[in-house]
Amino acid sequence: MKILGLCGSLRSGSFNASVLRTAVSLTIAPRELVVWPDLGRLPFFNADVEQTEMPGIVAELRSAVGACDGMLIVSPEYAHGTSGVLKNALEWMVGGGEIAAKPVALVSASTAITGGDNARAWLSQTLTVMGAQVIPQDLRIPQATRKFADGRVTDEPTVAALRDLLDDLADAAAKARENNGTLA
Ligand SMILES: Cc1cc2nc3c(=O)[nH]c(=O)nc-3n(C[C@H](O)[C@H](O)[C@H](O)COP(=O)(O)O)c2cc1C
Repeated sequence: MKILGLCGSLRSGSFNASVLRTAVSLTIAPRELVVWPDLGRLPFFNADVEQTEMPGIVAELRSAVGACDGMLIVSPEYAHGTSGVLKNALEWMVGGGEIAAKPVALVSASTAITGGDNARAWLSQTLTVMGAQVIPQDLRIPQATRKFADGRVTDEPTVAALRDLLDDLADAAAKARENNGTLA
């Protein structure tokens, strides 16, 4: 059971990256959570480049999406939407189609009391249009400054909610595998 983690923040002290780090520590074999290292390495999407000289890093990302059983996407909210870096990554994924029917769980951590609700709403709409299966369960982490320390989630109810979300995602991924005729 392979889960691919994507983070929409490039900030070194990112709360959202800390969510992924915590999720990795909560993941036990046979489940595996692999975090894609730094979406900032992707060039800006350009349809001409996609047609003529597909960047190797984009091919790698598409391949990682295709090989996973589900995705955990964690994003800050910037200007009432997701981050540019994550939107750019999604634009590169459109043409490959690997994300079709892939179960996706969404998390947003924000310093604001709203917890990044607009970012998740934006992502849910876009990913659904792309054919992904956004699971109904998600996680909002408002007032993040109170809930993290040393690059990890420390707030116990938030850790428990993250564990539950990982279980929900694994369940959806197992069902998707069954539907594809492979062993879960
Ligand atoms: C340019 C910018 C725009 C932001 N816009 C919003 C916003 O619209 N809504 C919100 O809840 N938080 C907003 N924030 C706050 C971020 O969500 C918050 O700083 C968050 O911790 C960033 O994620 P990170 O810790 O993973 O880097 C904004 C922050 C920045 C720097």
